[in-house]
Parts: sequence; structure tokens; C-alpha cells
Amino acid sequence: MIPLIQLSKQDAVGIITVDNPPVNALSPGVPEGIAAGLAQHIADPEVKAIVLIGAGRTFIAGADIKEFGKVVAGQSKGHNLLPLMLAMEDSPKPVIVAIHGTALGGGLEVAMGGHYRVAAPSAQVGQPEIKIGLIPGAVGTQRLPRLAGVELAAQMCAFGEPIKAAKALEAGVVDQIIEGDLLAGAVSFARAQTERPKPREREIRPFDPNIFDALRVQAKKALRNQTAPLAAIDAVEAATRLPFAEGCARERELFNQCLYGPQSKALIHAFFGEREVAKIPGIDKNTPARDIKQAAVIGAGTMGGGIAMNFANAGIPVRLREAAQEALDRGMATIRKNYSNSVAKGRFPQAVMDQRMALITPQLTWDGFDETDIITEAVFEGMALKKEVFAEIDRIAKPGCILATNTSTLSIDEIASATKRPQDVIGTHYFSPANVMRLLEVVRGAATGLDVIATCMALAKRLNKVGVLAGNCRGFIGNRMIHCYGREAQFLVEEGASPEQVDGALYDFGMAMGPLAMGDLAGLDVGWRIRKEFKHLEVPGERIPHISDELCERGRFGQKTGAGYYKYDENRKPSHDPEVDAIIAEVAAREGIERREISKEEILDRTLLSLANEGFRILEEGIALRSVDIDIVYLTGYGFPAYRGGPMFYAESLGLDRVLARIREFGWEPAPLLVRTGSPLDSAGQVRLP
Ligand code: NAI
Repeated sequence: MIPLIQLSKQDAVGIITVDNPPVNALSPGVPEGIAAGLAQHIADPEVKAIVLIGAGRTFIAGADIKEFGKVVAGQSKGHNLLPLMLAMEDSPKPVIVAIHGTALGGGLEVAMGGHYRVAAPSAQVGQPEIKIGLIPGAVGTQRLPRLAGVELAAQMCAFGEPIKAAKALEAGVVDQIIEGDLLAGAVSFARAQTERPKPREREIRPFDPNIFDALRVQAKKALRNQTAPLAAIDAVEAATRLPFAEGCARERELFNQCLYGPQSKALIHAFFGEREVAKIPGIDKNTPARDIKQAAVIGAGTMGGGIAMNFANAGIPVRLREAAQEALDRGMATIRKNYSNSVAKGRFPQAVMDQRMALITPQLTWDGFDETDIITEAVFEGMALKKEVFAEIDRIAKPGCILATNTSTLSIDEIASATKRPQDVIGTHYFSPANVMRLLEVVRGAATGLDVIATCMALAKRLNKVGVLAGNCRGFIGNRMIHCYGREAQFLVEEGASPEQVDGALYDFGMAMGPLAMGDLAGLDVGWRIRKEFKHLEVPGERIPHISDELCERGRFGQKTGAGYYKYDENRKPSHDPEVDAIIAEVAAREGIERREISKEEILDRTLLSLANEGFRILEEGIALRSVDIDIVYLTGYGFPAYRGGPMFYAESLGLDRVLARIREFGWEPAPLLVRTGSPLDSAGQVRLP
């Protein structure tokens, strides 16, 4: 058993060290341990002042998030940090909190129970609770405004972004920055203190009362539909209006509303989900991963350029090969422009851009491809071309080189068949823009080696992405499902909803953008071309959507042609286009579809449940390992709102019985797994036997 707390003494200063690796989370036993240590030092006549510090790489980095789920499930009462914090503030000996690494959430709240805070120059402090749908629950919203000032406190609690030590010092959250040895500095600071200022008794400094409404407007825009940021602002506002104890009670009330509300449940699901997807049966830390020191990318188009940037951003030298000089120049110009924009926005200095650019070698030849550890193919989507490219790299690449394809739909196995090393072939499916989107779908073929999968999952982390493992099928996890969703969106339009209604309903639900607007952005012609190529695969009698194809037939490919479901001005601002109404009416008449009023509820259910229904098939076929993997694909790659947890979590939150009933109402074939899990009745309406 790890001793969570260690006690020691130095120069008449009692030291309490929190030692709960890896991040000194406030797990059960930690607050109690601190309280016991505090009592012991207070009782010790030799001790004149007390220092609280963290062992290892950080101070207390936050609450133990698992505990929140247990509290909601009634399995734990949770622990109340308040008695500890009051004991710290009421200590007859000055209590100094020494912060390094991050003091976040409950960590900062504990720190604010001390009389003084000192910090290492690299330390950060923050109240990031809104990121899991909560607000500070241990009086952070009441103490922080008294230390940091109302405006900064409200901002920190509403948006969850941490601040650096220097800013914390300037704002008054921290009293001194300690260069060099933090503990030694904290001890000598402690020895010099005779006063014991209590954060809870501080006067609120003058502030502009309009800031609350201004922040509400900002939060409603930046964190659309989310309840916790607004609750956090309310709680900080309460600190300015109510005496401390009443403010604390108000915070508790708001905290509980968030804790028992649906959004925190969904966001906590997303938080753990991102960690869960890294776990793959058969792969553990002993699986030998290959070393990626050099990379190469083929194709410098929309995707290839962004993929090359990912490698360069991670410090991995990358060769970028194109077929033609003009395309190569265009690709490099786009990369340069992207980096320049980041420099202009102050994301990183010019020197960093120069370093990254220097890591990318543009070329028309195969030079150096025999030395790279991973080659990622991002040429046009077409099986013949992909096989040609793979046959070529099979000849050139060194043994052990990973041969990855960025295909969004094609079979990894068929691509691998063009090589003599199918065990080294894998899909690494990036999302557009590849340098921005966090998702990396790692697609395993039938023969892909476990070490190749392990390497690509580790690579995802190195590239600052979330890797999700998918099986090989048309469209893998994400695109296979989005196909159903997009089709349903078009059917709704054919049946009477306007594009604005469909997109509006899903935008209001929280999607980053509606499906039709997304089609316009990605280019409607992509799907149109694929459908033409695969016309022979259409199942007779199966309904197919016509609107997108009809728009393409008229040259309306979306934003790039200034017209798609909407018309676009030169700044790509969309507006309603009566011509689209006419096209829709014509298609409906031609297909014999009677147009009717369509409710928002129907729009949401048909689009979102089509995702879930296909998700259940994907699960049953083993294309996704767990339903949370599907959720993470949607949260990190498709703009699904995290506070809804993902399409599978959302379906579950509606109740799978209800989902199944709706699917039957729509006349769809429900996924067998959903029938088995979702209803006490089997598909023939009989009661299912256990
Ligand atoms: P793109 O058309 O923008 O770029 C393809 C590039 O490959 C062109 O610049 C072309 O000159 C080059 N190329 C063709 N043959 C080549 C060869 N033999 N050697 C070197 N370069 C060659 O296409 P995009 O959008 O970048 O797509 C590339 C791949 O990524 C496709 O498989 C696509 O399905 C997939 N993908 C596309 C996404 C998107 O949103 N555009 C998202 C995820 C995957």
C-alpha cells in the first residue's frame, strides 16, 4: 500500500507531502491524510508553520473523476473537502501551499484553503471542471474570486482554461514564485510568515457588474448548449452577492444540478472513453512497437499535406512525394500558408515554423523511401491506383517499414494483396483537415501484425491524436455510419423538410454543422462519383437518395462551386437558394414522394438513430471493439457534441427500448444486436427468453 501522505519537518516547518502517483489525485484517503497531517503538525510544539506540497511531477492535479460516477450511482457519498479546507484556514500556524506542475480543480481548491501559495515558475492553476460538465464543488467558485478577482475567476471557472504561475502571481492567486528548489523556497517563505490571512475572509475587490452577462454571452457561443459554464458563472456571481457561507451553499446546489444532470455523465463518459480506446485485446506494454524515426507520405493533396504536417509537428522528418511538380508546389504552398496563419495568430513563433518546414522534404522521386519507417499513402481514392502505389512501395521500402493507407472506404486487405507483406499494411485514416482533427482511425486488415497496430496506436498519441482501432469494412466505423446519416438527411428533404430545417435541427442538437452543410463543405461530387462507380452494387428495390446527385448533375458541388444545398457568396457565407427548392420539388414529384410537414423530433430521430442502428451492426460484426470506441470516433472526428456522449451513448440515454420502437416505426431493419439488447421482445414480438 502506498503511503498517500508523508510527514516530515525541516527548520521548524512541518511538511505534508501528498504522494498519490501518478498525479496526486484526491482519491479516498488523500484529504483525510492531509487533515491528519495538519492536526499532527498543529499539535507539535516544535512546528511553527506548515507546508503542503506534492511528490513527483505535480501538486494535486484534481479530483478522482471515477468518484463522481460512483456518487451519482449511489455507490459512494463522495468526500467533502470542506472540513479539511476550513481546518487549513483556521490553523493557528500559517499554512503554505507549494505548487508545481498543475493545481487543477480540487487541487486548486485545496490550495486555496491555505493562507499562502507559492509556486514553481512552470506551475499552472485552474478550475477545469466544466470540461466534465461540472463546476468547482469545493468552494472554488467562492474562494477564487476573493483571490484572483471576480472577472478572472469567472472566466477560469466558466471556460476551464488554466493560467500560468506568472499570471496567478499577478492576479493574487499565488503569493510568490520560487525559482529553484520549491520545497526549500516554501520552507523559507513559511518561516517568514506571521500573519494568517484567510481566503474566505478576503474582501471582494471592485469589479464591473456587467462582466457576468458578457461572459454568459461568450459561453453560450463558445460552449453552445452547455449548462456547466453558465452554472459556474452563476456560482461566481453568487460569491459577489452573498456572504461566504450562503455562497458556498449556492455553489453546492449548482454543483449537484450539474452532477446529476445528463451532460456531466456524457462528458465523463467521453473523458474515460478517450483512455479506454487505447486498450486493445492482445496488445499490452510488452507488445514490441516499431520505432518511427522517419516518415514518408505519398500525395500532397488535401490530406497528404496535412498528414505530413502532423509528422513535422511531432518532430519526425517526413518526405512528401507527389506525381507532378505543380501539385507538389501547390501542396507545399498550402502547408506554408497553414503554418504562417498559426504564426500570425501567435500559436508558435516563426522559428518553430521554420523548424517544421525544414522537416518536410518535398520530392517527385522515391529518394529515401528505402530508409523510412512508415509510408502513408494519400493519393486519389481508387483501388487500381492504390494497388499500383502499394506494389511500388513494396519493392522499395525496407523490411519492417509500415505501409499505411489513408483510404476512407477501400478494403485494406485488397490493398495489402498488392504487396508481399500484408502483415505490414494498415489503414491510418485521418480526418480533414488532417493537421487539426484529433481522430485517427487505425484500420486493421486480416493480416495486419499486432506490432503494427501497436505502433500506429502509439503513433496516434505522438501525433497528438486519439487513435481508435477499426476493422476492415466499407467506410470502417465513422464513414460507414455517416453514410446512413447523410442518406436519411436527404430522404427528409425529399419528404418535405427544407435543408435549413434539417441542418438547423442537428446544429441545435449540438453538431458542429448540419449534414447537408457538411456535404457542401466536403464537396457533394465526392459521393456522387463514388455512387456512379458503384452503381452495380445497388440493391434492387432499396431506396436511394437523389438530391445530392441531382445537385451535382447541375454542377452544384457545394462550397467550391459556390452552390450546393445553399448558395455561397465569395466569403463562403451560405444563403437560401430558391433553385434548390425547385430541384427538391422536381425530384420528389419524379420519385412519387408526397411532401409533408416534418417535425424537428423526426429529423433528429431519423438521422441520429440511423447512426446508432448502424453502430450496433458495427459492434456486432466486431468492426468496433466497444460502443465507446464508436462514440469517440464521433466526438473526435465528426463534430458530435461531447456533452451528448456520442451516438451510442445518446441512444442509450434515450432508452434502447424507445430507440428500437422508433426504428420499427420508421420501417427500418433494426440491427440484431439492438433487438437483443434493446427490447424484452424479440423481432417477432415474442418475449425474449433469457
Ligand atoms: P486529393 O485529390 O486532394 O490529393 C491526392 C493527391 O495525390 C493529388 O495531389 C495527386 O496529384 C496525388 N497523387 C496521385 N497519384 C499519385 C502518385 N502515384 N504519387 C504521388 N502522388 C500522387 O485527395 P485527398 O482528398 O487528399 O484524398 C487522398 C486520400 O485520402 C483518398 O484516399 C481519400 O479517400 C482519403 N481521405 C480523404 C479525406 C478528405 O476529406 N478529403 C478524408 C479522409 C481520407
